[in-house]
Amino acid sequence: MSPTPATVALYPGSFDPITRGHEDIARRSLRVADRLVIAVAHTATHAKRGLFSVEERVALIEEVFAGEERIRVASFEGLLVDFARAQGAALVIRGLRAISDFEYELQMAQMNQELLPELETIFLVPEVRHSFISSSLVREVATLGGDVSSFVSPAVLARLGEKLDA
Ligand code: PNS
Repeated sequence: MSPTPATVALYPGSFDPITRGHEDIARRSLRVADRLVIAVAHTATHAKRGLFSVEERVALIEEVFAGEERIRVASFEGLLVDFARAQGAALVIRGLRAISDFEYELQMAQMNQELLPELETIFLVPEVRHSFISSSLVREVATLGGDVSSFVSPAVLARLGEKLDA
């Protein structure tokens, strides 16, 4: 009997930078998938002013999940569905923090479903204590001198400090 193929999930996003909320979603996704590819997009649907380069974001995520053999980090250009197909991913993971996320997420999930029907989007919910954290707020608070140490991992905090001091 041939072994059951591993379920690969893709967790795409901007991750500028990765937050504790993203980390929580990534770890939760390993309950529904065997392997996870965290995919940093070069082209985001809602383009935002970037703080870290895509390469820096990938390196930071690798540092955060160092030693986690089931998680791989990559960047991608172009359509998410094309990257998912190339990676053999059956699932796309997205986090839902609040109802305000829902409209944008539903629209993306349905567009991706139209483009690649066999790819399923799964929404996971972060722990309540992470539900107000977003990369954009972390960037804003850190830029204005606020303490973001409970919203990001130590590796990210250190790089934020270096970046903003530069
Ligand atoms: O963290 P974000 O910025 O909300 O992530 C959005 C992202 C990167 C998942 C989305 O913009 C995306 O999938 N971009 C890749 C280009 C693409 O496939 N666009 C069509 C999406 S329906």
